[in-house]
Amino acid sequence: MGIAATYCRGQLGLTAPLVQVEVNLGAGLPVFSIVGLPATAVKESKERVRAALTNSGFEFPAGRITVNLAPADLPKEGGRFDLPIALGILMASRQVLEVPGAGGSLPREFYGELSLSGELLPVRGLTLAAAHAAQEGHEIIVPLANVRDTRIVRHGRTLGARSLLDVCAHLRGEDRRRRLTRASGLARVSAAPRGLPVLPALDLADVRGQQLPKRALVIAAAGFHSLLMSGPPGSGKTMLAQRLLGLLPPLAPAEALEVATIASVSSLESGANGYGRRPFRAPHHTASANAIVGGGPQARPGEISLAHRGVLFLDELPEFDRRVLETLREPLENRTVVISRARVQAQYPAAFQLVAAMNPCACGYLGDSSGKCRCTPAQIETYRARISGPLLDRIDLLIEVPRVPVTDIAAPVAAPSAASITSAEAARVVARARQRQLALRGCLNGELPQSQLQSRARLAPEASRLLEQVFERLGLTARSYHRVLRVALTIADLEESDVIGSAHVAEAVQLRRVAASFRSAPGPAP
Ligand SMILES: Nc1ncnc2c1ncn2[C@@H]1O[C@H](COP(=O)(O)OP(=O)(O)OP(=O)(O)O)[C@@H](O)[C@H]1O
Ligand SMILES: [Mg+2]
Repeated sequence: MGIAATYCRGQLGLTAPLVQVEVNLGAGLPVFSIVGLPATAVKESKERVRAALTNSGFEFPAGRITVNLAPADLPKEGGRFDLPIALGILMASRQVLEVPGAGGSLPREFYGELSLSGELLPVRGLTLAAAHAAQEGHEIIVPLANVRDTRIVRHGRTLGARSLLDVCAHLRGEDRRRRLTRASGLARVSAAPRGLPVLPALDLADVRGQQLPKRALVIAAAGFHSLLMSGPPGSGKTMLAQRLLGLLPPLAPAEALEVATIASVSSLESGANGYGRRPFRAPHHTASANAIVGGGPQARPGEISLAHRGVLFLDELPEFDRRVLETLREPLENRTVVISRARVQAQYPAAFQLVAAMNPCACGYLGDSSGKCRCTPAQIETYRARISGPLLDRIDLLIEVPRVPVTDIAAPVAAPSAASITSAEAARVVARARQRQLALRGCLNGELPQSQLQSRARLAPEASRLLEQVFERLGLTARSYHRVLRVALTIADLEESDVIGSAHVAEAVQLRRVAASFRSAPGPAP
């Protein structure tokens, strides 16, 4: 006979509502029921909790055990509730009595999946839970393997435990003695994340030639513009895309927390490893819409959210399922994604920078100096039609990446010149242009709402005329007109010019030239 309550948190998008785990022990036939969890999760949790309790030397109460996870309508994933359920049973049956912790009566939350022997196994999403608990001044007790996920949270109070027995000892106030032996004790966690492991730097200077693509990369980094590169196999498209990350400024602490939180919700592989680094995600073209946008019964984040504040690289763009590409349109515009499932609706941020690469035709050699291409105009058109106009209209920079002659690649490196800009130099230019945009407009040009673009982008009269001419000649859509204007604004910002001149417009148009070839019936090599 008895009743007890413990606390934990669920997960819904990037919110973590508090869940009360109520346990009631009643007289009657032995029945163990859990309400408030999906059926399969309940079944598994019951078996684990029962085995963990008896194998840890506790008595599994006879009679009727009712566990209620409230609120009932919040979708909950099974594993993490094992520990609070087991503790609730122990407290209700008075086998464990909680002694207030060192922090006085600081409310506690418990997380962890139990193994049959009573060990605590890691669960997902604890960066998120830790951040919410810290806001409310709660202490959390988590599996030792999850401790690194919570280090990122400032002012968080986390204890890492190896097993149910460790947690019980701590609650009984016996941990003071136990902590002397670190192996079995609860390790108190420091707030600061450890230093980052060093990755081999990919430098822009490694790319020979390719002046226009490199310039496009700098502009993309400076203004948060999406970029599509078209070129024959081996021209260095992948190589260029991988170097974008090195041009972007480091994450602010709040952004780093966002990135780590999404990573921790997504998988057991915690984001703590890459803490503070912008993500680079390159999903394969066979990936499903669920994998890219997010989904599944738990409405987990997809690649576009895992790439939040970083780069989403779609190599071989036309090979992606067309429906998958279409689902990118909305997040590209709103920088956020809502995933609706039967029981769950979750929202995740998705402010990713899109970089895509493709060959100009199915064989890959259209327009190449080798003249190898044998594709018919109809084949070329079919290939390009896999990327819809509306998606192209959402890409700011569309450029060609021609093959660099082997002799140039093999040639010894010339003395440093303007032609061989390093990533460090480019990053400084990018950082300055970004600061300017934030100071003048409060956001980067790629994120500037269309309504503000027109009033914020001041065109010199001759630039305005040039833009009109180009608009008519190339038959640009209204949306791509705004893309050109946006890019021209970033080019002006790179030069710290308050007015967009015709040179800026001309370069912006040049960096979108390929778009025209997607619409006009493409012929053989130009
Ligand atoms: N401009 C360049 N400077 C130095 N190396 C280059 C350059 N272009 C290509 N390479 C070399 O060629 C290799 C292939 O380049 P990469 O994989 O980036 O080509 P790609 O354009 O992505 O080709 P694909 O269309 O087949 O995916 C690189 O690993 C690099 O060694
Ligand atoms: Mg490639």
